[in-house]
Parts: sequence; C-alpha cells; structure tokens
Amino acid sequence: MEELNAVITCVGGYVPDYVLTNEEISELVDTTDEWIMTRIGIKERRILKGEGLGTSFMGTKAVEEIFRKSDVKPEEIDLVICATTTPDYSFPSTAALIAHNLGMKNAFAFDMEAACSGFLYGLETANAFIKAGRYKKIILVSGDKLSSVTNYTDRTTCPIFADGAGAVLIEPTTEKVGVMDSQLYTDASGFKHLHVWGGGSANPLTHEDLDNHRYTIYQEGKVVFKVAVTNMADSSELVMNRNGLSKEDINWIVPHQANIRIIDAVANRMGVDREKVMINIQRLGNTSAGTIPLCLWEWEDKLKKGDNLILTTFGGGFTWGATYLKWGYDKKEN
Ligand code: UT7
Repeated sequence: MEELNAVITCVGGYVPDYVLTNEEISELVDTTDEWIMTRIGIKERRILKGEGLGTSFMGTKAVEEIFRKSDVKPEEIDLVICATTTPDYSFPSTAALIAHNLGMKNAFAFDMEAACSGFLYGLETANAFIKAGRYKKIILVSGDKLSSVTNYTDRTTCPIFADGAGAVLIEPTTEKVGVMDSQLYTDASGFKHLHVWGGGSANPLTHEDLDNHRYTIYQEGKVVFKVAVTNMADSSELVMNRNGLSKEDINWIVPHQANIRIIDAVANRMGVDREKVMINIQRLGNTSAGTIPLCLWEWEDKLKKGDNLILTTFGGGFTWGATYLKWGYDKKEN
C-alpha cells in the first residue's frame, strides 16, 4: 500500500470585531503604547464581546469558512479536534459544540489542551489518524478566548493576550506533501512560571480566589521569554537537520505569536530573513492556540504547492516543538 500523508486542503479563520487598542489598555493599567510596541510588538488585539459567547463561537465561524470555500460537506467529516485552553464549558467539549453547530453529525469530536501549542499537537494527532488510514476528513479547529482568563489590572500580562480561532481541513494524499515531520515536547516543571491556578479540579472556585485574580493567567515573563526562544529555535533546527533542510530551503517560518522579540530572536538564530516569517502579532496579539492557524489563514493566498514551512511554538505546560509542513495547494479561486 502506498504511504499516506496528511495534508491541509483548506483553511478558515475568525477574529472578533472588537479592537482593543493600546490606548484603551493604557486607561486600564499603568502602561503606554510605546512600552507595549517596544517590548511586545502589539498595536491592537481582537476581543470577543457578547454574553455567553465562548471559543466555540469563534471556532464555528472559522470552520464555517472551510465549508464555504471547499466542496466538502459537514456530514463527510470523520473527526473534529478542537485545540483550546479556554473551552466554553468543563463539558461538553468545545469540539462537540462546534460539530453540532455545523451539522458534522458523522464525526466524533474531542478537545485537546496544550495551551499555545495546541495547533501543533492537534496537527500531529490528526496526522497519525490519517496515516493509519482510519479517517479521511478531519477538521482541526484551534483557538482561544484568552480575554476570559486575563487580569485587566495586571500590566505585565493584559497587553499580550487576545481572542481568535483558525481551522484547517486535513485529508490523506499519496503525494509527498503535508505533514513531513515534527518534534513536540512537554515539561510540566514549567508550571510554576506560567499557569492559571484556579477554577479546575485542584482549586475549585472560591470568592477569595476570585478576588485575588487566581483564575487568570500568571506569567513570569522573563523566564518564559528565555525558554521560549531557546526551545522554539532548538526544535526548529532539529526538524530542519533531520530532514536535510538548510535555511535556503525554507519558504516560510510560522511562529507562535507571543512577542515580536521572541519571533525575531528565533528567526535570527535560524538565519532566516524576516520576509519569510509570518507575523501578525501587531494586529492580532497572542491568541494562544489560534496564532499559527490564523497566520496560515492570512497567508493562504501567498502559499504555493511544495512550499516548505516550519511551524514552531511554545506555551504553557511547558509545551513546545516544531513541525515541517510541505504546503499542498496553490491559491484557490473562491
Ligand atoms: O504565549 C505563551 C508564552 N508567553 C511568552 O512567550 C511571553 C514571554 N515573555 C514576554 O513576552 C516578556 O517577558 C513580557 C512582554 C511579558 C515582559 O517584557 P520584559 O521585557 O521581559 O519586561 P520585564 O518583565 O522584565 O519588566 C521590565 C520592566 C519592569 O519594571 P522594573 O521592575 O524594571 O521597574 C516592569 O514592571 O517593565 C515593567 N513593565 C511595564 N511597564 C510598562 C511590565 N509590564 C509593563 C507595561 N508597561 N505593560
């Protein structure tokens, strides 16, 4: 039997309408547009407003675009994976809600949680299901409503985080395109540096913890920054070396969008020019599991069949890694 590869055949995305500017953040906490632009590189970010709207709302919109753009029908989908750290509810899963919203009634659906690394974890999982020959049409939807776990009185974190979701359709092919290789890691010794402490089964809701912002993101920025640069660059280099890729072979680097200085440091270490790096952090901020698919969504028209992409990420857990993806199609007329 010919070897099957898992290839992305369509991309969708959604960011909310509300634009939270640095000026508005400066009214909430003691900061300035200049500090945020110099230290983080974010000018504005999107925030999901509206009572009862969670990650499934954005995920549904992103997947809806895939059904608009492709010939694939919701009932043909075998599997829905939703990568998110901010599910609508403890249960049912956000994947189940999205599948229901769009009539993917023949799919089984589940969530996976790997913080900002969710998309690469989801892609690796979908890749294994496709290679096994078990499933033929997989939706991977990946995103977060980080505004729901952001402390808007903490100037060290609130300028960073944002809301958004991207989605991809993944199908089998016998061509040599799609997910070529990947190396992912997890190390929970990073827990103390980056976490949301309360609201889970270890520390269920209390009034006191709520008053002390223990249901929002805690981050030791400097520590996380250093590890993020090293680990994203190391894992990218490892995947490139293992596949005999030099920097000249790379068409695009698709990094997690946490800080423009992290993105630049990783690209510099890899020796890749900035024009080859997908960057939308200025406009969209850090949407956690949403950053990488939202980059693919925004750059979709520029991508060509056979382009070599290195996707790399770092997030809470710690979770991190890199994936080598060979793009599977040229621009489609929609
Ligand atoms: O996506 C998940 C992974 N997350 C990341 O990769 C994030 C990694 N970390 C970072 O991006 C950066 O560390 C931050 C953006 C979080 C912080 O930048 P930094 O350059 O590391 O700043 P710092 O924490 O060292 O703080 C420097 C100074 C401090 O003042 P003092 O102690 O030197 O007087 C902070 O209090 O900047 C101060 N500061 C601010 N000043 C104005 C911190 N936040 C702000 C702010 N506005 N918003």
